Amino acid sequence: FGTVARDDATKDIARRLSQENKDAVIFWGSQSGTAEGFAHRLARDCHQRFGLNVIVADLSDYDHDTIAQIAESKFVIFLLSTYGEGDPSDNTTDFLEWVQKRSDTLSNIRYAAFGLGNSNYVYYNKVADDVVQCLEKLSATPLLPVGKADDANSGTEEDFASWRDDLFAMFQHKLGLEEHVAEYVPSILVREIDNSVESSLQSGEPHPLKLSRKAARDYSAIQKLPVKNIKTLTGAGNAGRSCLHLEIDIRAHAQIKYKTGDHLAVWPTNSSDEVERLINVLGLSETKQIDVLISAANNEDEIKIPKHTNVSALFCHYLEICGAVSRDTVSILSQLAPTASTKSFLQNLSTKSAYAAFISQHHITLARLLEHTMLHDPETDWSQLPLAFIIESLRPMTPRYYSISSSSMVSPRQMAITVAVSPSELPLNPSVSIPGLTTSYLSGLDIDATPTIYSHVRRSAFKMPFLHKTPIVLIAAGTGIAPFRGFLQERAQMAQISNQEIGPVLLVFGCRNPDQDYLYRSEIEELQERALKGKLEVVTAFSRVSGQKKCYVQDRLAEQDVKEKVVKILCEQEGNLYFCGSTTMAKTAGRTLVDAVKEHQKADDNEAKSWMDGMKRSRRWQEDVWG
Ligand code: 2AM
Repeated sequence: FGTVARDDATKDIARRLSQENKDAVIFWGSQSGTAEGFAHRLARDCHQRFGLNVIVADLSDYDHDTIAQIAESKFVIFLLSTYGEGDPSDNTTDFLEWVQKRSDTLSNIRYAAFGLGNSNYVYYNKVADDVVQCLEKLSATPLLPVGKADDANSGTEEDFASWRDDLFAMFQHKLGLEEHVAEYVPSILVREIDNSVESSLQSGEPHPLKLSRKAARDYSAIQKLPVKNIKTLTGAGNAGRSCLHLEIDIRAHAQIKYKTGDHLAVWPTNSSDEVERLINVLGLSETKQIDVLISAANNEDEIKIPKHTNVSALFCHYLEICGAVSRDTVSILSQLAPTASTKSFLQNLSTKSAYAAFISQHHITLARLLEHTMLHDPETDWSQLPLAFIIESLRPMTPRYYSISSSSMVSPRQMAITVAVSPSELPLNPSVSIPGLTTSYLSGLDIDATPTIYSHVRRSAFKMPFLHKTPIVLIAAGTGIAPFRGFLQERAQMAQISNQEIGPVLLVFGCRNPDQDYLYRSEIEELQERALKGKLEVVTAFSRVSGQKKCYVQDRLAEQDVKEKVVKILCEQEGNLYFCGSTTMAKTAGRTLVDAVKEHQKADDNEAKSWMDGMKRSRRWQEDVWG
């Protein structure tokens, strides 16, 4: 676990490209693995369809000055994700700084760039835009307009697929490359081996994350941690929604430290039902326990899953077998179809409109899609489908992050998380409910069997004010209450133990219905009556109470008396402001709040904006948001 840095000799990308006679490099800058996955798929397609030899590279693995020396005959592709407040991924931070500071031209560079972002955020695709702007200023040559994925609209996969079509059209028209009929060639080799060579077999422990140096400081090592308590907080049986509260015991792990506001990563296991389904449809029941060795066809490529494992462990722990099959995978699958009728069924399904219609009506994991084709054509037998194809089509398992809902000051050796269980529904087939991967995994844990989960702590910048006397406004919807539970516990402890001066807390909390999902209600009311008496005020917004108008946190924030309280804390008492919940909630509630400040200060739009920017810069305005 930790960083795998390249040595100096291989940090020169220009030299590698020329020595290895490659045509291009695809640099990826990504945290969650999406851009990285795209980079590998794109490299494979460039090779199979255009005969191009491409290096896939982590932006932080190379000496950036050597990018400037890349020969004019080669080209560079950037796939760059933007996060939160327009932030780059950890492995892009240094590159961005390098390109922004550079003054010598990059006129020898020909490039294409694609950004991954979400238009729910203010700084939509800022990283790709910033990089492209710098490259233009430095006279690099764009091969096609920058492409952008919007996860909030057509979806990252679809946007990537259409940009890739534009890229390939450019290969033909601008670079004069000829397209070959793509034939599936696996980029992974899988070999069965003798089970007696057992030493390195991995059958459950997560594959170590490859981290940039910066990220390595922010993550604790992955550990198997005991879960001490699991309880359902509210509304089980209410349209399949409920909420779990888990307590994780870290007494035996002295090296794990967390701080209030940090995140806990949970590495889930796929449901045994889905694992069995895939094993059966591929006819692997007899061989699922046989050891396999997995290697990259091209030695340079890094394998993201354990090299020595077996099919059972692969499907259980290392591949995301529960996700929807991508349109790309459907297309390659059509090439490998065992019958003509299934081939044409899949070819048809791989068109944009047919695919969109199909996934809005069917739950299609890979196993379910294969089963579907067998119903469509009973002659279809998928037992010859190469395991290599399965491995490269499915994403490697990644952890899911949860805001820790306990205070490290109050319970330093026990962490709590608050997990919403809300299965997704298919837009055109609401009778089908798709369970969440990690929520099913966690709800399935048997507390009597002292279960353990693979987890690690990720440091977060979401932190309480340095002084306990600083007033705070906390705005949360749903499980956004999680970190604030820790904040409240911490304030209560300070108030009780050390008799310190405690700043007032205004909590604005939104949920559907007080009888269904008012999370931690009794704890909050107890704090109001005792430890934080006179210090904690709670303003609630309920969106689904029958006979009442829908009310959101932003609606409460727009009310005169609430507005006045918030403005007093933020503008007169120099208090801090925190949001936790969905991005849209934070965006709308944030706007309402800035309007309130603007009105109070009799400010214009520019002044209100600079107040908000100043609050964010001084970290008096913090957000822990998702979705
Ligand atoms: P809903 O009934 O419309 O889903 C937790 O999920 C709470 O946040 C629910 O009350 C939910 O309302 C509410 N919510 C959903 N979208 C929101 C938004 N954009 N802004 C504020 N609250 C929102």
